[in-house]
Amino acid sequence: MTGKLLLATVLCLMGGSALGDQILEGNYNVTAFCTSVKPGTQLGSITSCNYYYVCSSTGPVLTQCQSGYAYDYAKSTCAPEGQVSCFWGVENPCAGQNGTWVPNTAVCGGYFWCLNGAKAGSGNCKTNQKFDSSSRQCVWGSCNSNLVESDEPNLSSLCEVVPPGVYFGDTENCNMWNYCLSSSTGVTLMTGTCTANSKTAFNVNTGNCDYVSTSVCSRVTDNPLSQVAGSCTTSGAVKPDATVCGQYYQCKNQQWVGVACPTNYYFDLTSNLCQPRQTATPVAGCNRCQYADTKWVNAVDDSNCANYYFCNSNGIGSPVSCPTSYYFNEQIQGCVSDDTLSTYASTNGACKGATAADNTSTTVKDDDAGTGGDTGTGGDDDTGTGGDDDTGTGGDDDTGTGGDDDTGTGDDDDTGTGTEDDDAAGKAIKH
Ligand SMILES: *[C@@H]1O[C@H](CO)[C@@H](O)[C@H](O)[C@H]1NC(C)=O
Ligand SMILES: *[C@@H]1O[C@H](CO)[C@@H](O)[C@H](O)[C@H]1NC(C)=O
Ligand SMILES: *[C@@H]1O[C@H](CO)[C@@H](O)[C@H](O)[C@H]1NC(C)=O
Ligand SMILES: *[C@@H]1O[C@H](CO)[C@@H](O)[C@H](O)[C@H]1NC(C)=O
Repeated sequence: MTGKLLLATVLCLMGGSALGDQILEGNYNVTAFCTSVKPGTQLGSITSCNYYYVCSSTGPVLTQCQSGYAYDYAKSTCAPEGQVSCFWGVENPCAGQNGTWVPNTAVCGGYFWCLNGAKAGSGNCKTNQKFDSSSRQCVWGSCNSNLVESDEPNLSSLCEVVPPGVYFGDTENCNMWNYCLSSSTGVTLMTGTCTANSKTAFNVNTGNCDYVSTSVCSRVTDNPLSQVAGSCTTSGAVKPDATVCGQYYQCKNQQWVGVACPTNYYFDLTSNLCQPRQTATPVAGCNRCQYADTKWVNAVDDSNCANYYFCNSNGIGSPVSCPTSYYFNEQIQGCVSDDTLSTYASTNGACKGATAADNTSTTVKDDDAGTGGDTGTGGDDDTGTGGDDDTGTGGDDDTGTGGDDDTGTGDDDDTGTGTEDDDAAGKAIKH
């Protein structure tokens, strides 16, 4: 594994490391970043896997791993090259890899397929997805760039260089803290602000909220840690992330900066604030599998609430729809007759504003029942039975098969056989 020095700025730096030299790697301002972490914290390089930066009180100190070793930023240590998932500036990212995907760091969302230590194919994650190097797969999220191929790598998340599990600050706001949370779906940036009593400053040395003072807030120079997103003009403006419900962008110093909502919160379009997952109305098309504790979740659907997702173990959703006159109810985990849609839509933000798709057939049936001189009960029975037989059977088959095809699990077979439907008095098509 050979490190490739891509940036003149780094070469300059290596000539002399006088106090105040700034280190830039693409959009990553190592100097600014170092002021936002506790001294002694190590930050990864996105130019080479063979070195890293130790943040001292006077700035970043470039430190080499020994020969044959690569830097593992998540563990803050150098380890034998084959054991580290680091691909920055590496000539052959497939070295030592067989039957696996690795990122193509020169292309936003790009990856290679490796066989027997050589590149055997390449590709790009779909729109609104990025390649996650730790889980080796495409995940929801945006890598900031415009898909222009370039030798110059950029950070698409602060969590690509700072180890997970460490609180760090921000250079534009003394109140703000950041934290990289590692999970099976990759590493997510969590961001928050210090609000408790009068301790509204984040102290990077202690990792705690503290009283505002010149020394605690000296890092706030308005030079961003990384210019990770596109440019904007109205400071303070916010906009949703198109794919990650629990994330939004805020305009700071002409740059859109990604901000994560707290766990179990989504960015809500009505209030432009983070709100609890169930009540928030996030942007249509974002992935509501995020923070879901059920396998089946509503899609954001303000028309008739019939669209939903099956969430696989990686939190990726496959789209499914309820049959006509049914909406998807996340609490019941099934398609439910539109009768209760208005109540559901008023308490579940994903379906805010949704109305029954087609209530004309109900009207016809009501009329028939009335004409036939039946009582209300008879009418209800007719409508209920007819609806359940027709829609229920068709719906089960359709929904079950579609879900199975898309996701390849056998869960639907277990639940699609009708037992649950019977239990639910024919009202719901459950999973
Ligand atoms: C990087 O951060 C340093 C320290 O805050 C600052 O002096 C420098 O101007 C920044 N560079 C860029 C390009 O933002
Ligand atoms: C690489 O994987 C392929 C397919 O799984 C296998 O046939 C081959 O022997 C492997 N090569 C090495 C060097 O392990
Ligand atoms: C990094 O950002 C620069 C400037 O925005 C851009 O020209 C370049 O294509 C980006 N590189 C990658 C690999 O995305
Ligand atoms: C049925 O549709 C009409 C007209 O679109 C609407 O006013 C009414 O509220 C709907 N009824 C139900 C129960 O959804």
